[in-house]
Amino acid sequence: MDYFPLFANLHDRPCLVIGAGNIAARKIDLLLRAGAKVTVISREVSPAITQLGLDKKLIAIEKAFAADDVLGFMLVISATDNAETNQAVAAAANAHNIFVNVVDNPALCSFILPAIIDRSPIVVAFSSGGAAPVLARLLRAKIESVIPPTYGRLAQLAEKFRDVVKQRIHAPGQRRVFWENIFQGAVAEQIYAGNGQQAEQQLLETLDAHENAPTAGEVYLIGAGPGAPDLLTFRALRLMQQADVIVYDHLVSPEILDLARRDSEKIYVGKQRQNHSLPQDSINRLLADLAKAGKRVVRLKGGDPFIFGRGGEEIETLMQEGIAFQVVPGITAASGCASYAGIPLTHRDHAQSCTFVTGHLKDNTINLNWTQLAAPNQTIVVYMGSMGLEKICQSMISHGSPPDLPIALVQQGTTRTQRVFTGTLATMPAHMAHEKISPPTLIIIGTVVSLHNKLSWFRNDA
Ligand SMILES: C[S@@+](CC[C@H](N)C(=O)[O-])C[C@H]1O[C@@H](n2cnc3c(N)ncnc32)[C@H](O)[C@@H]1O
Repeated sequence: MDYFPLFANLHDRPCLVIGAGNIAARKIDLLLRAGAKVTVISREVSPAITQLGLDKKLIAIEKAFAADDVLGFMLVISATDNAETNQAVAAAANAHNIFVNVVDNPALCSFILPAIIDRSPIVVAFSSGGAAPVLARLLRAKIESVIPPTYGRLAQLAEKFRDVVKQRIHAPGQRRVFWENIFQGAVAEQIYAGNGQQAEQQLLETLDAHENAPTAGEVYLIGAGPGAPDLLTFRALRLMQQADVIVYDHLVSPEILDLARRDSEKIYVGKQRQNHSLPQDSINRLLADLAKAGKRVVRLKGGDPFIFGRGGEEIETLMQEGIAFQVVPGITAASGCASYAGIPLTHRDHAQSCTFVTGHLKDNTINLNWTQLAAPNQTIVVYMGSMGLEKICQSMISHGSPPDLPIALVQQGTTRTQRVFTGTLATMPAHMAHEKISPPTLIIIGTVVSLHNKLSWFRNDA
């Protein structure tokens, strides 16, 4: 981080602006909005700024800048079009460790002014550290469009009722849930619609209800998708940002975990082949116990929870114990890997159906209906199949698949480290014996694989 972000309290603090043109006027306006005591020094002062002086909003002094002028000020902004003056202002301020900003000259600045969205008391600031101010402004425009203009009133409402709520809901976790419901529910809608009184009334009713029946815990069984963080669903992201606890396994990448609420507790229950760090029963128990303790628990699983994810077993326990839950689907590895490898799973000329199977070896065998899988005009996707690759290829051939049937192995699909290996049922095992494979990997079998060369589009830097 090149710049340390902070919000400064400038109320009644002396701030100096050198220059009195249009740009200076914009900075002066910002400083006045923040309650600063503003002094303006400029050889020429515009009528508008003179008027602000007459109205006692600021002190305007018509003179040339001198180094001593900076003394006694907390921060200085130089907004002149004279390079020498700007340089002199920066030098004088730096000599006295006073924060200085020279407009459009990051090299002379000890602080920069971010692009902002002002929904006071909510203020959102954006900065590219001077690298791309236009980009920061575009981002601001994007975010501005999703923050209602009356958002600030929501914060004012919270400020007004903060102490009452604190007195009536003692547990911080319960209080957080209460406020999240207020900010995302009917009370917020009343505020957006300009019905302040109804909003207050409804807030008090919600408070009564909450006091009488504290919020019960809940479990969100969420599919985190195949790896790329931007393949998460909006709902997954929203729930992850509300969760008290995140229970996750090894297929969930650190980048995805980073999107969860910062202060949520993170519990790793990762399962890797031959290395079950927590048995399934214990995971089921853990989820139920956390929810019973009133927590909002996200159970985050790779891909989709209902596809080779044991999601069904986990919610069965919750169901039995009467614990509320939601299931949020994720992009399963088959969809993610196929898309990012440019291999359509179905295609009018190649495959009219697609079957997902597990290639997990049990007692060194894979128990699948090979006759069915070896039939033509379909695509077979094998999860957890890399250890059994040779057996899979042999079984397909011995049950009637042509030895030259195309097969692909997608490693770490959708991520920056994705690799796609292709071959045929006859050649693939020998080919892969010379490659170092890093899990997770997915196998795709069928003539659709032949489209990979033509349709491959995803470029990563691996
Ligand atoms: C226990 S299963 C979980 C599947 C997951 N629920 C889903 O819907 O994708 C784990 C297997 O999914 C496949 N897999 C998951 N993510 C993958 C990825 N990014 N690239 C390749 N294969 C992946 C691998 O075959 C891995 O062994």
